[in-house]
Amino acid sequence: MIYEENTLNIEDIKKIREGVQWRMLTDHQLQQALDMTVYSIVVKDHEHSIAMGRLIGDGIYYLICDVAVLPDYQHQGIGTKIIQCMIQYVQSHLQKEERCSLQLIAAKGKESFYESLGFSLLPNDLSGHGMQMLIKKK
Ligand SMILES: CC(C)(COP(=O)(O)OP(=O)(O)OC[C@H]1O[C@@H](n2cnc3c(N)ncnc32)[C@H](O)[C@@H]1OP(=O)(O)O)[C@@H](O)C(=O)NCCC(=O)NCCS
Repeated sequence: MIYEENTLNIEDIKKIREGVQWRMLTDHQLQQALDMTVYSIVVKDHEHSIAMGRLIGDGIYYLICDVAVLPDYQHQGIGTKIIQCMIQYVQSHLQKEERCSLQLIAAKGKESFYESLGFSLLPNDLSGHGMQMLIKKK
């Protein structure tokens, strides 16, 4: 299994999204998303893209998105390694005495996967619930 950094492309995303039955996005949105990605991982098995993850952010806040592993490859530690690569990327971009917030929205039922990697559920002692708004073209 090869973990490639920053080579993720539109075709990889489409194939993997389809494989995990996620809603399709337009090429325009996918290209825009890739252009605004600070770090990506695509995992390949003999040239076939089988897993991915993207990180967007500004050095203070980061958001993990599009983490997906094709069903035949799940439960082999690939998702864990993708998240660990992202944590390593963020850690390596901090300077002395700096800190930042690494955030994500867990898919339903995947909270324990992220908790095992060090993420905390919200709300907690310091923060309220995470919140989101879905916006559609009028
Ligand atoms: C969520 C997802 C990314 C996890 O990827 P994954 O590669 O299966 O993750 P891992 O193999 O690292 O870990 C998954 C589980 O398998 C276990 N595991 C890891 N290696 C294992 C191995 N060699 N043998 C058996 N189990 C193993 C882990 O302990 C973990 O258990 P947990 O879910 O109880 O914490 C994957 O299930 C997925 O793509 N799902 C569909 C899309 C999705 O929901 N994405 C999440 C968006 S937030």
